[in-house]
Amino acid sequence: MKVLLATQKPFAAKAVEGIVSILQEAGHEVVKLEKYEAQADFVNAVKDVEAIIIRSDKVTEEVMAAAPKLKIVVRAGAGFDNVDLAAATARGVVVMNTPGQNSNAVAELALALMIFMARTQFTPATGSEVQGKRLGVQAYGNVGRLVGQKAKAMGMEICALDPFLTDQQIIDGGAQPVHSVEELYAASDYLSIHIPALPSTIGSINYDLITRMPKGATIINTARKEVIDEEGLMKALEDRPDLKYAADVMPDNYAALQEKFGTRVFATPKKMGAQTAEANVNAGLAAARQIVDFFATGNCKFQVNK
Ligand code: 3PG
Repeated sequence: MKVLLATQKPFAAKAVEGIVSILQEAGHEVVKLEKYEAQADFVNAVKDVEAIIIRSDKVTEEVMAAAPKLKIVVRAGAGFDNVDLAAATARGVVVMNTPGQNSNAVAELALALMIFMARTQFTPATGSEVQGKRLGVQAYGNVGRLVGQKAKAMGMEICALDPFLTDQQIIDGGAQPVHSVEELYAASDYLSIHIPALPSTIGSINYDLITRMPKGATIINTARKEVIDEEGLMKALEDRPDLKYAADVMPDNYAALQEKFGTRVFATPKKMGAQTAEANVNAGLAAARQIVDFFATGNCKFQVNK
């Protein structure tokens, strides 16, 4: 089969080598489209491929329509909001992710952002310590749980909200369960967001929620920019000069936020949570193995459009 590795933000060379060798050893042909400039380049590259490995690359209806032989798309990573699942399902294309494979990298970045903000973005201004502070984790999945456990080791108190877990599962994961998003925000000196971008979550972190946070609180968003109501964030930062916001997913109004709030806001220039050699290798190789297995045995364990 012909497999396209389409990564606008390329994997580390070691990951690419691993992906190519796993696929070639199983008899597949690999073509690469890395660092492409326009979506049209992606559309033009899929004509005769049976499988595609992507990161945050956008697999739209247009991409699928241009790929009549396409059987499977594997998102090497966790979030799959960049794939049009309905279009894939309508065409009988299987979509998978590689859950957990890049979680540690994202968790480490969330903690790094937390300390960076606590230390006033490494300016000489007096900062604060995270020890003894309460961290709220919004969604206690693969990333959230790692953030909670690592933050606990730094002496933080952890509480978590996750509608898909029982209280006991959250407790076993090292956190105190809370039962509403309002309660979570009201309790958190630091709030780490790990929810996916879904119709129900987009814009859900709004003025009302943000301004429930205690004095001096900081929101860390390594999830998706879409979950933030950006106007609400702007107004909350205006009305509450003690609040801070840091993100790995640059808000659309970042320039305005920066101009108004200086070191109270921060965003990475490009999403970099999963951008470690280890995460690239873990997620990339998992994606290649899932494709090999899918064509060899029909294994659809990680399918997300069932
Ligand atoms: C994910 O959903 O896995 C992360 O957001 C990483 O995305 P990336 O592969 O584009 O860095």
